[in-house]
Amino acid sequence: MSASISSVRVSSGVGGLDEMLKGGFPQGHVVLVLGPPGAGKTSLGLQFLNEGLAHEERVLYLSLEEDLAALEATARQFGWNFDDARKKNRLKMVLMDPQHASNAMKRIMSELPRELDEWKPRRIVVDSVSLLSLLATTDAERREVIFNLAAACRHCGATTVFVGESDPAHPETSRDGLAEYVADGVVLLSYDEDPDRHRVRLAIRVVKMRRTAHLRSRQPYTIGARGMEVDAKAVDLTSL
Ligand SMILES: Nc1ncnc2c1ncn2[C@@H]1O[C@H](COP(=O)(O)OP(=O)(O)O)[C@@H](O)[C@H]1O
Ligand SMILES: [Mg+2]
Repeated sequence: MSASISSVRVSSGVGGLDEMLKGGFPQGHVVLVLGPPGAGKTSLGLQFLNEGLAHEERVLYLSLEEDLAALEATARQFGWNFDDARKKNRLKMVLMDPQHASNAMKRIMSELPRELDEWKPRRIVVDSVSLLSLLATTDAERREVIFNLAAACRHCGATTVFVGESDPAHPETSRDGLAEYVADGVVLLSYDEDPDRHRVRLAIRVVKMRRTAHLRSRQPYTIGARGMEVDAKAVDLTSL
């Protein structure tokens, strides 16, 4: 890990989550946001970047999943104006098409670290490392690409969100089984099913956050017209 990681906190942009983290993500961390489809991982990534844009930071979204128009539409529906930031060269959104795996791998392993060092984004989102790991053809290559990308993100001084799909059989681990070890922090999004009442509740838990006395409890969150919001004060999920 980089020795340059400071005690400065970076706001996640998600109301309540910073409270769970005692101030936000430690600057320079790579944080894995893990969860099943539809839990709000992409929304959280966009919200994290929007918070940076609100502070005039340079931010980068590396997408292997949704095309850029879809991501912008999501941002727009939450009321976040990414157009303006892109025109001012404070936002870069890069789509790496998993269909062209070898091009994408080459770009991540050789060009991207240089681009990051030159452009120096303050925040990076990689959506998703699960798809990234699928680009690799061997286990060794899979490890290498995830380790290298995390190292490049730390090296340029950014605070980074790695989005990861959770393994359906073991929801607390990622599909690739690697990202949680590479990351400095893991935030888990999950559904709480309540078959009797036909309700599905969303819950968030900080599983790991190096150098942070974070909450360990599961707290409820919602996704609404202005994005994600965590209720860090709820004490009993069963009463919701
Ligand atoms: N404006 C909104 N109001 C309420 N819920 C929303 C809104 N926009 C998105 N959602 C919820 O967020 C989910 C999508 O979140 P997304 O960030 O794409 O999840 P993931 O990346 O984890 O698959 C949708 O399936 C929907 O349930
Ligand atoms: Mg997504």
